[in-house]
Amino acid sequence: MADLVPRKPVTVPDIMARKRDGVPVVMLTAYDATFTRLADACDVDIVLVGDSLGMVIQGRDHTLEVTVDDMIYHARCVRRALRYAHMTVDMPFMSYQVSVDKALENAGRLVKEGGAASVKLEGGARAVPAIEAIVAAGIPVMGHLGLTPQSVHAFGGFKVQAREREAADLLRREAILLEQAGCFAIVLEGIPATLATEVSASLDIPTIGIGAGVGCDGQVLVMQDVLGLDDSFKPKFVKRYAELADVVRGAFNAYAAEVRSRAFPGPEHTFKTRKTRKSKSKSSSGSGGGSGAEKAETPPTSGAQNPEPNQRTGYGPS
Ligand code: KIV
Repeated sequence: MADLVPRKPVTVPDIMARKRDGVPVVMLTAYDATFTRLADACDVDIVLVGDSLGMVIQGRDHTLEVTVDDMIYHARCVRRALRYAHMTVDMPFMSYQVSVDKALENAGRLVKEGGAASVKLEGGARAVPAIEAIVAAGIPVMGHLGLTPQSVHAFGGFKVQAREREAADLLRREAILLEQAGCFAIVLEGIPATLATEVSASLDIPTIGIGAGVGCDGQVLVMQDVLGLDDSFKPKFVKRYAELADVVRGAFNAYAAEVRSRAFPGPEHTFKTRKTRKSKSKSSSGSGGGSGAEKAETPPTSGAQNPEPNQRTGYGPS
């Protein structure tokens, strides 16, 4: 059924207004066009092209080897499929730490080449000069505090942060610094829920939690986790909304079995030859029968001609 109120693209002011209106912000990661199109058709406010792609797409143990070019590649895939959700793109490790100039240049690349509407970077006080410069250039910045995955080696693993009073106090102060530096939102990852609730209450900008409890102003999860695509990954903070690993394995096994038994492709997936005029007239004049045309038949399409930009159709007219 069509929406009664037409949807509009989600903007940074819309995201900030969610906090004033008490409406939680929904953020989901995406890295390709197929899944972005699905997420964008649902009520997702922000699609995050996260550097978590180092793990869920590239199969690495952490995010540290992800490059700016990797982020641009995936951001472009996502951008092509996006119509409504706001697109935030992660600044990968060492793309903003070396100097403010480098940070500005890389944030600019994510916008100009990747189509980012905002960028996200990790860290508190040390990230403030880069955040101020990027914001001053007109690029909205989302901060990220707590279990910042780019500091995995410094933390000695992916461990809940700010459990002790000193670290919690530091995080409280750094959240305020990020707000003052111009961030429009802050991800709070892997921290005690009580701390996340307090920090959220102390800020005018929304906090978006992952492993930080329900007191944040929004939530983010990695898409693969929401869909249950890796059934060996079961952290406490993830809720799986589907068990697609089973579904996908079932489909792949059925496909393999049908290829081996020759049940696939069936007649309905198979093209027939079509006689050309030339071969028809040849056969009607009795001058020897041709074997017919070599052109493939066009399979039926759903009717509409490319109803949405960038959508796949079957083969074009032959
Ligand atoms: O890279 C990522 O996907 C993230 C989210 C988990 C917040 O930073």
